[in-house]
Amino acid sequence: MTPPLPPRLAMVAARVPHGAVTADVGTDHGLLPVHLLAAGRVPRAIATDRLPHAAEAVRRLAERHGVADRLEVRVGDGLRPLSPGEADVIVLAGLSGRTIARILDEGAEMAAAARRLVLQPMQALPELRRWAVSHGWTLLEEELAEDGGRFYAALVLSGPPAGRARLGDEDLDRAVAAGVGFPPSVPPSWVWVAGPLLWRRRHPLLPAALRARARLHRETAARIEARGERGAEARRRHLDAADQWEALAEHVATERDGMGSY
Ligand SMILES: C[S@@+](CC[C@H](N)C(=O)[O-])C[C@H]1O[C@@H](n2cnc3c(N)ncnc32)[C@H](O)[C@@H]1O
Repeated sequence: MTPPLPPRLAMVAARVPHGAVTADVGTDHGLLPVHLLAAGRVPRAIATDRLPHAAEAVRRLAERHGVADRLEVRVGDGLRPLSPGEADVIVLAGLSGRTIARILDEGAEMAAAARRLVLQPMQALPELRRWAVSHGWTLLEEELAEDGGRFYAALVLSGPPAGRARLGDEDLDRAVAAGVGFPPSVPPSWVWVAGPLLWRRRHPLLPAALRARARLHRETAARIEARGERGAEARRRHLDAADQWEALAEHVATERDGMGSY
């Protein structure tokens, strides 16, 4: 029996190529590797977590689903429990983008030896996108999933990384924004918030995801207002940002309408 996955992890699982030995770093419950093994998608998997009690739970889950002989469970920080080249694919899901970038920086040799990284950050997504591109990883694919009104993104990076970008942050932002046709009226750094490939593809969930971002800005503005007059300028900035994200959402929705169904 294959354990079901929430939409966020189903999106990640779908980005693991058939037959790829996969390491799931920060596995916690271990649902992802057990699912991949039980579905016959991967021949072998390694599940790691820095917490020993997580490892115990993963072992029990693997036994329940009859895949314990093909799943190695290891305890340790970041990529340290792995040896270079033993995993074709490294997955880091459910952690913050900053933690993911730190783990990949600290285990740069291990990360570079994988064919593909599948990353699913819960926060600091723009920072992780910029980190990936500025460190020379190829951003192969971006995907979005929705669950209960919340949007989750996955990034697929292919290696090995080409080395640090020669451009500084602002020049890199401008180059990437221009490269994917991001409107010049919007700050170029926002391309990392929208997602360069999601934007270029006019992803079907992107308008709703951008509207959700606009709503967050409006909610922050309302909280500032409730606290009193002192934050008037910050409130204005959030309301302006909300207007701009809504305009971008409309832009994508309108262009999608014009694309027809292909
Ligand atoms: C919120 S859970 C995500 C579990 C699963 N990957 C998912 O997406 O549902 C985060 C897990 O990452 C582990 N973790 C956090 N930092 C880590 C690190 N530096 N190295 C290994 N595991 C880490 C935590 O112990 C926790 O079990």
